[in-house]
Amino acid sequence: MINIATIETITGNQPVYSRALIEHVDTVWSTGKGKLVVNDIYGKPHEYDVDPPPLPRSPEDDDDDDYTPLVPGICYASYQQLADNERFDHDSECGDDANFPKVPMIICMNSYPKHKNIIPEVAAAEYAKQRSSWFNSTECAELKQQFQSLERQNFVPVCKIVCFGLGSLSRDIRCHGQHAAVETLSSILSDSQTEGARLPCFAQDPCYTIADKAILADHGIIVLPDPKAFLELDAHTLVVSICPDIPVRQIIADVQWPAALICNTIEEDDTHLKEYTKHYLHGKESWVSPYTTDPSSRRVQAMVEDCEDMPFPACDSFGGTTIYLRRVKPEA
Ligand SMILES: C[S@@+](CC[C@H](N)C(=O)[O-])C[C@H]1O[C@@H](n2cnc3c(N)ncnc32)[C@H](O)[C@@H]1O
Repeated sequence: MINIATIETITGNQPVYSRALIEHVDTVWSTGKGKLVVNDIYGKPHEYDVDPPPLPRSPEDDDDDDYTPLVPGICYASYQQLADNERFDHDSECGDDANFPKVPMIICMNSYPKHKNIIPEVAAAEYAKQRSSWFNSTECAELKQQFQSLERQNFVPVCKIVCFGLGSLSRDIRCHGQHAAVETLSSILSDSQTEGARLPCFAQDPCYTIADKAILADHGIIVLPDPKAFLELDAHTLVVSICPDIPVRQIIADVQWPAALICNTIEEDDTHLKEYTKHYLHGKESWVSPYTTDPSSRRVQAMVEDCEDMPFPACDSFGGTTIYLRRVKPEA
């Protein structure tokens, strides 16, 4: 049984992720220069090279045909992973077999969803078709209606949209629909009276292709490299993050509570890890989703406690998704 309350006790209930940590990792990772120095949850610093050591392969490994071979990338640990002593004693996931310290963020070998080899013109045509299908859908009309019926003055204004993990446009129509919905949100949330005005939109997903970046830029969504989207967050941001492979909700709960959040519905504390499944990777048994992806925590729950919530219209691209809107605090 893994209880993340232990992490909250060890850290004195201080956030594990901070803007300074993300800025430091961003500087070292984007320049490829210097050493990465990251404190573990006990406050002890650990130094890393930018080039992570290769990981061992084992015949028992469950290869996932949908994911790439391992490449260097930023690795984010969820609170559940940090609380798991078994993992830190025995797991070789990040190369340091004996003493892998409990650090939240390092550069290590990672795997991302594979791109399908779609030529850019075909990808653009497919996105054009699917976004038009979304714009004409009853769910899109329902989403607009939900926002139009809100008393906007009761909610913290949104000035930009930051997206995480919406996936490559070469992947499937879920990813098309999610990006098209972001386009809709950027129009309906813009306060400008100018025809076609939209909010600035940013998106981070290491699996975007060059074609994805160009297509999204043509539709007003600017792709940012990992981890820069976290540095874009402010109190007037709408975060959109659907089934990301990293603990986006725990990171934003630590770094910046946004004005609004559209994500998988936030459930109770994920302390019931016995229910999660395991697989074999690098010769070891390890946990899979949501333990290693985007689990909840008490701070994640606290982040949305004062928010109005409404279900995102269910469709092929969204299911079990909730819209959280931060209410303006009444004047004292
Ligand atoms: C399970 S897929 C979900 C894709 C899509 N949102 C959906 O609902 O089908 C998880 C996504 O998280 C992305 N991801 C992995 N690391 C990430 C990171 N550091 N920042 C943002 N997205 C990341 C993966 O590349 C992948 O596209």
